[in-house]
Amino acid sequence: MPTPTEQPSPTPAATAAAETPVIEFRDVEKRFGDNVVLKDLDFTVGRGERVTLIGPSGSGKTTILRLVMTLEELTGGYIFVDGEPLTHEERDGRRVPVSKKHQKNLRTRIGMVFQQFNLFPNMTVLENIVEAPIHVLGRSKQEAVAKAHDLLEQVGLSDKAHAHPTSLSGGQQQRVAIARALAMDPEILLLDEVTSALDPEVVGEVLNILRRVAETTDVTMLIVTHEMSFARDVSHKVMMFDGGHVVESGPPEKIFSEPDHDRTKAFLGAVLRDT
Ligand SMILES: Nc1ncnc2c1ncn2[C@@H]1O[C@H](COP(=O)(O)OP(=O)(O)OP(=O)(O)O)[C@@H](O)[C@H]1O
Ligand SMILES: [Mg+2]
Repeated sequence: MPTPTEQPSPTPAATAAAETPVIEFRDVEKRFGDNVVLKDLDFTVGRGERVTLIGPSGSGKTTILRLVMTLEELTGGYIFVDGEPLTHEERDGRRVPVSKKHQKNLRTRIGMVFQQFNLFPNMTVLENIVEAPIHVLGRSKQEAVAKAHDLLEQVGLSDKAHAHPTSLSGGQQQRVAIARALAMDPEILLLDEVTSALDPEVVGEVLNILRRVAETTDVTMLIVTHEMSFARDVSHKVMMFDGGHVVESGPPEKIFSEPDHDRTKAFLGAVLRDT
């Protein structure tokens, strides 16, 4: 007879799945020539977790996002997505690249929104949004177009489906870029200073769209922003970077109000003074 305190134990596989981080950096090194930007970098992001990276200009925040997006070559260590190696794996004690097919497959789970929007200028808004779902995920045109219209409605741009990006304001272009990223149903959304290139009066509407995405989906987010109130609202965790390392990390209320490290205090002091 089991005692009343005994609980059914989860299967080992279920336990492992629950604990596998969505993103893991292990001993990551990134150098550009002789410039070592990231060194021995370790961190994990859990499923559905929203993590904001803060740190001085040049500390490597964009590089981290671009590595996850496979837009930069990893020069050392390993990155795992859902426990699977993204660029290299260890085989017989050697670090070897993963297959292009494997990487392409993992890459479909990751979406990124850039500071400079990066829309395809020769395509309409609708074409921008349906391109990858059709050509990368193999969705039918009908399904991709229906989803694109849904997303355009969510970002308040239903009337712009057939416009070209160049005819849109910066705020509108960024809302299209968000819709384009979400059209892939990403598990991971990477946001790199998505409001930095916008006029101040439209920053709020873009951030509100992202707040809504955070509230209504379980997408894992890795965010770089100077919008500290946004970071405080949406993040579960804030990581302070400097010199290629995580200086400290914790819940936003802790990092923003009572950071442990002088480096974080000085950085936040400067950022908050400028805003
Ligand atoms: N393509 C590149 N070639 C050479 N060096 C690069 C390249 N991209 C980034 N770097 C260098 O890597 C370092 C980190 O750059 P990164 O853009 O990641 O910083 P950041 O933290 O995003 O800064 P910011 O807050 O200004 O956006 C910098 O020293 C930068 O000069
Ligand atoms: Mg940057």
